[in-house]
Amino acid sequence: MNDAALLRVESLSAGYGEAPVLHDVSLEVRRAEIVALVGSNGAGKTTLLRAVSRVLPCTGSILMHGRQLSSATPDQAFACGMVQVPEGRQLFDRMTVHENLLMGAYRRSDRAAIARDLDKVYGLFPRLAERRRQIAGSMSGGEQQMCAMARALMAAPALLMVDEMSLGLAPVVVERLMDVLSGIRREGVTILLVEQDIHLALSNADRGYVMETGRIVHSGPARELIDDPEVQRAYLGS
Ligand SMILES: Nc1ncnc2c1ncn2[C@@H]1O[C@H](COP(=O)(O)OP(=O)(O)O)[C@@H](O)[C@H]1O
Ligand SMILES: [Mg+2]
Repeated sequence: MNDAALLRVESLSAGYGEAPVLHDVSLEVRRAEIVALVGSNGAGKTTLLRAVSRVLPCTGSILMHGRQLSSATPDQAFACGMVQVPEGRQLFDRMTVHENLLMGAYRRSDRAAIARDLDKVYGLFPRLAERRRQIAGSMSGGEQQMCAMARALMAAPALLMVDEMSLGLAPVVVERLMDVLSGIRREGVTILLVEQDIHLALSNADRGYVMETGRIVHSGPARELIDDPEVQRAYLGS
């Protein structure tokens, strides 16, 4: 296999009960890339993240670090370094920011490294440092998204899968979050950016996959996808 591939999904199919959703999906995320997985609401993006992180049964192949995860448990996928920032953030609303971050690290026992990572994420998100004692559910949407991203980083991910980060947030906030993602990538974390905002995601990614009704219909360098007349016609309103 290609050494550069951190995650390689081949011919993955999955659904809910008898209802098929994903059909023969293949994609690859290479080390230290930002890859965009884009498509309209209901295309199957979150379902793919669920299947890849082993929460949902599927057929096909999921290789992470070259290790076959198709029959693995969610814990084993997590142990391989797959960490999600879930759609809707799913914070522990009644806990403080700081407690949420500690929850991100709950499977780790390397206390010195956890302390270092806490400093690091508070450095990435100074706003969270100011609010570390605040109840997470009482913060603004942008601050909650920061908290969800910081919590995921506390798990020390190899592959960070960020689901609909921009949904409901002001463009200036989204821009700040994108800057943080670029910084994280420079430090070697690989990112799968899952977005309905196709232009936003492709503008911030190296490569992209466009999903439509559970199938990958376009893929390639992000710049080429943005310029692709078919993608433009279908998704970018031009
Ligand atoms: N828990 C579920 N049970 C049954 N069908 C679901 C469930 N979650 C999502 N679906 C269906 O799967 C399809 C893909 O949904 P989803 O993966 O959430 O799309 P996206 O993340 O691209 O918006 C949709 O038709 C949706 O209605
Ligand atoms: Mg979704």
